[in-house]
This record gives sequence, structure tokens and C-alpha cells, in this order.
Amino acid sequence: MKHIIPAESSVPEVQRLLQGGIGPRPIALVSTVSKDGINNLSPFSFYNVFGANPPVIAFSPSRRGRDGSFKDTYLNLVETKECVVQAVTYSMVEQVSLASTEYERGIDEFVKSGLTPIDSDIVKPKRVKESPFQMECKLIDMMSYGNGGASANIAVCEVIKFHVDEEVFVNGIIHPNKIDLVARMSGDFYCRAFGDNVFEVEKPLAKKGIGYDQIPDFIKNSNIYSANNLGKFGNIEIIPSENAVTEYIEEVRRGIKNESDHSLILFEDFQNQKNFIKMLQIILVNSSLSPSNKKQMLERTAKVALESNQTEIAWKIALFAGRDNG
Ligand SMILES: Cc1cc2nc3c(=O)[nH]c(=O)nc-3n(C[C@H](O)[C@H](O)[C@H](O)COP(=O)(O)O)c2cc1C
Repeated sequence: MKHIIPAESSVPEVQRLLQGGIGPRPIALVSTVSKDGINNLSPFSFYNVFGANPPVIAFSPSRRGRDGSFKDTYLNLVETKECVVQAVTYSMVEQVSLASTEYERGIDEFVKSGLTPIDSDIVKPKRVKESPFQMECKLIDMMSYGNGGASANIAVCEVIKFHVDEEVFVNGIIHPNKIDLVARMSGDFYCRAFGDNVFEVEKPLAKKGIGYDQIPDFIKNSNIYSANNLGKFGNIEIIPSENAVTEYIEEVRRGIKNESDHSLILFEDFQNQKNFIKMLQIILVNSSLSPSNKKQMLERTAKVALESNQTEIAWKIALFAGRDNG
């Protein structure tokens, strides 16, 4: 491990560390207007949401690294107390990056970036038409820490009106693959929250899962299950009974129509297809498997069931794997 004391390091080094270890960071594309009516548009990734009642978000237009001066967004916010904050999607990321250029105070980054300004309903700053998620905001607080380059100015804002493209909703929630957000990481890296990068983790049970400590050792000590698998095993309310395990195995055994369709060589194919029932049937049909082989194959089957969000079934297969011989 590297051990770093910020007070003994340069500011750019500290900034690089923070940007590498704290991410992916959402990007606020912030529109403000100066008191003379000039639009300004800049991205900020030191940004997040802090409450919903009232809706409170915050971002940090920090002091400029090179000379400690204030950024236009900060100055406009302090003067006018209004902004519009929009989400940044993959299709607009290059234009957003262009908007981050340090143009002089009087330059309108809508013009420079080619992003389209549209009127807001309540506040003066414009909205960005290309973003599917726009929030009209009022500044509640500006909190500053330090006064050198890269010091924080946290703009705490209340959202007073949302504008959201109907296309991004699936079953009442904003779906990652519809909104296609990007986030900031270290150096020049970004990441795109889309496709294979997006996955679901079931929330812990409202009635409380048994927890990692209650998982039997023969499951915890298996070299088939990952740490994430064990976390998921811990999210069951009651471990299935031995009877329930036997009943499930017999039910799967009764489902076997033609033993010759259950050759061992198909096991991996079914694993790739995430067909844990066929995997289990192959194990049940092939009675000549050695106990250790059988245990390992059952654990691979339980893992597939678990990763298909069939936690109860995964438990039954995992418990069956723990029996002396099945
Ligand atoms: C994706 C991205 C994220 C950024 N995040 C921040 C940030 O959180 N804080 C900050 O002060 N500057 C950040 N910047 C740099 C500002 O956008 C840049 O300094 C900009 O010129 C400020 O504009 P302004 O002076 O018009 O307010 C970021 C730039 C990019 C491209």
C-alpha cells in the first residue's frame, strides 16, 4: 500500500488521488447566467444528491488550480442564486467536455459547445435541450473550504422543477440503458453506465436476511462461490429445511424425460446457458461421478441459480451439495 499524508503532498497529487479513488462520479452540467445576462455552461463531477425532501443537490465549482481565482459558475451563482443542472449522457459527452474549456467570463459556452439553450420555466439560466434530465435550481448555501487553487466551494441547491424525457422511463423508473449516463473517473477516463456495465443487486430483505455469519462453513469454504455469491446467500430469511431440499431434488429428478439427453459433456453448455435445472439433472443422471466431482458440479449449479436470482433454489442445491453423497 502507498500511505499518503495530504499535507505532505502537492495539490495536483492529492487531486489525482481523489479523482482516482472516488468514482465513477456523476457529472452535473450546470447552466448559470451572469447579472449582465450572459449564459455560462460548465460540467462538474464533484457532485451528488443529498436529500429528497426537499430535493437537495450539491456540486463544487472549485477555485482555479492555476491561480486560485473563482470560476464563472461560482461567480454567477453567488450573484444570481440560480442554476439549471442537467445529467450528461453518452451522446453529448464530447460537447460537454468542450464546454469545460476555460473561456473568458463573457463567453457563452452554449455557443462554444454547440449545445442548445432552451428557456426554463422558473429560473433565468437556460436548460440544455440535449439532456433528457434537467433540474431548475435555487442556491441555498455556498460553503467554501480553503482559499488556494483547487479549494472547494460547495454549491448546495434545491431543485424546484424537474424536466425529464418520457422516453427514459421503464416501469416508472429511469432505466440506465434508456438514459445512458456517463461518469468521470481518473485522468481523462470516463465510464458509460450502459449494457453489460449495468447490473442489479437485490436490496436486502425487508424482513432481514440471515447474514454472512449464519452461512454454514461448508458453503463458506467452497472454492466455487465468490464473495459476492456468499453475500447473496446471506440475504435469505430462512435456510430451506432438509425436507424441502429432498423434495426439490425429487421434483427435478421427476422432470428427467430421457436419460440419454443428459450426457456429462453437455454440462458446460448448460452452464453457459445458465440452465441450472438441466445442470442438476445431468448430475442426478450420472451416478458414477466421484463424490468430490459431484460436489463441485453441484456447487457450480448452485452458483448459476444464485446468479440467476433464484436464491431459494440455489440454497437447496448448495445444501444438497453438502450432503455426503446427495
Ligand atoms: C467532466 C468534467 C468534470 C469536471 N468537474 C469539475 C468539478 O467538479 N469542479 C471544478 O471546479 N471543475 C470541474 N471541471 C472543470 C470545469 O468544467 C472547468 O474549470 C470550467 O472551465 C469551469 O467553467 P466556468 O469558469 O465557466 O465555471 C470538470 C470538467 C469536466 C470536463
